[in-house]
Amino acid sequence: MIIFGVNETTHDASISVLKNGEVVFAAHSERFSKQKNDWFTNDKLIDCALEYGKPDKIAYYENRWLKKSRILLKGGFGGGKPYYLERKDLKWVPRESFSHHYSHAAAGYYTSPFRDAVIVVLDAIGEYNTSTIWVGDGSIIKRVYKDNYPFSFGLFYSAFTQLVGLKPNEEEYIFMGMAAYGDPNKYYNKVKEYFPSYNKQKYNFHKGITDWGWVTEQDKFDIAAAVQKVYELRLSEFMKMARTITGKTELVFMGGCALNCSANTMLWDIFDDVWIMPNPGDAGSSLGAAAAAYGKHVKWLSPYLGYDLGGAYPVSQIITELIKNKVVAVAVGKAEYGPRALGNRSIFADPRDPNIKDEVNKIKKREMFRPFAPVVLEEYADKWFDMDFNSPYMQYAVKCLQPDKIPSVVHKDGTSRVQTVSKEQHPGLHAVLSNWYAMTGVPVLLNTSLNIKGQPLLNDENDIIEWENTYGTKIVRGDNG
Ligand SMILES: [Fe+2]
Repeated sequence: MIIFGVNETTHDASISVLKNGEVVFAAHSERFSKQKNDWFTNDKLIDCALEYGKPDKIAYYENRWLKKSRILLKGGFGGGKPYYLERKDLKWVPRESFSHHYSHAAAGYYTSPFRDAVIVVLDAIGEYNTSTIWVGDGSIIKRVYKDNYPFSFGLFYSAFTQLVGLKPNEEEYIFMGMAAYGDPNKYYNKVKEYFPSYNKQKYNFHKGITDWGWVTEQDKFDIAAAVQKVYELRLSEFMKMARTITGKTELVFMGGCALNCSANTMLWDIFDDVWIMPNPGDAGSSLGAAAAAYGKHVKWLSPYLGYDLGGAYPVSQIITELIKNKVVAVAVGKAEYGPRALGNRSIFADPRDPNIKDEVNKIKKREMFRPFAPVVLEEYADKWFDMDFNSPYMQYAVKCLQPDKIPSVVHKDGTSRVQTVSKEQHPGLHAVLSNWYAMTGVPVLLNTSLNIKGQPLLNDENDIIEWENTYGTKIVRGDNG
């Protein structure tokens, strides 16, 4: 039984493939089309998915007509005809649709290790729902709470992202990074008035913030800091309410809001265990729709599910380049599903060198204030970072305990967005870090995505050649024996 899950007609289209209950393929449209956050699927992506076999069913991630009715009745944007419907070879495949928030909930719960959990979905907007709480019990997912558009945690954050001149629905992560450079208290009370309680807001943020007044350059950082502080306050209240009304101690958190790694860390203080699927935003909902059609937990092995470059992990080449140049770009095996590069389409660098951050920012043509993340051997994570949980998908920002030793992976506020690596999770990357640790006494590397700012991550062989020709930097590929 092969099920294709599809999400498109909104930012970041993707396709996932479930084969007999195992997630065998999942990839973003943008990596094939080279259009950042591409709204639509394309032939290259569909053909790649079809290599796993022709689907018996196609599951779509939202109710198109319900969404259309919301746009007509209440406003907003999105919609259009999905591209996959144009494909003649998929025309007679049976189709099924699931609601936007149910697809998020299914993507999280059915990939999680839990069988009795609360599922919280917070995003900008799908059809009507914007905040939902569900209970996962065995194979059943049941909704127990909802808030509707225009109230929205995601739209609140996106509207302020737009207010400071960044792209809403795309550059919220930059806005989050700016927060560390601002004074959170300067505008705290003013921002709080826009979002007075966890289920009340001042107005429809989809229309942008029109009554703020003039915004200076320093204001932008102070606004980011205040928005992050208010967001964290309301998120914490919402999560405590979710725990109280369901009585559950294990949390699955999904929706675009689950990408806020600075806020996510508090979840470990509210719940005993937390699962955030590594692609919690809309791009992860192609897998959610497929899992919803399957109707029970899927076999989830890892987030390395995209285009396959093949090759064994080039451990010794990576170490050689790091010793020689302190920076190395790597492209090998299957691409990551989700926004983070977790070792297969990554740039690694020596985190001990305080100048390496500027060096890598220059390679990636990013703003100089942008922080970089560390990847650390799981067995030493708690010696270097203040954490008593694992973070295999780079989803939590925690305090760095030895910032003087690894200055290039510590943000202005003293935190780091950590990726922990076990041998089981990624044997190749674990071997790189183990060798690096044996040589330097530091079990940490800087890990950032292999792309230029504003462009999708590198995907296939052509991307590697183009990168090498354009930038003159060599990319280390897989060992093929
Ligand atoms: Fe969503």
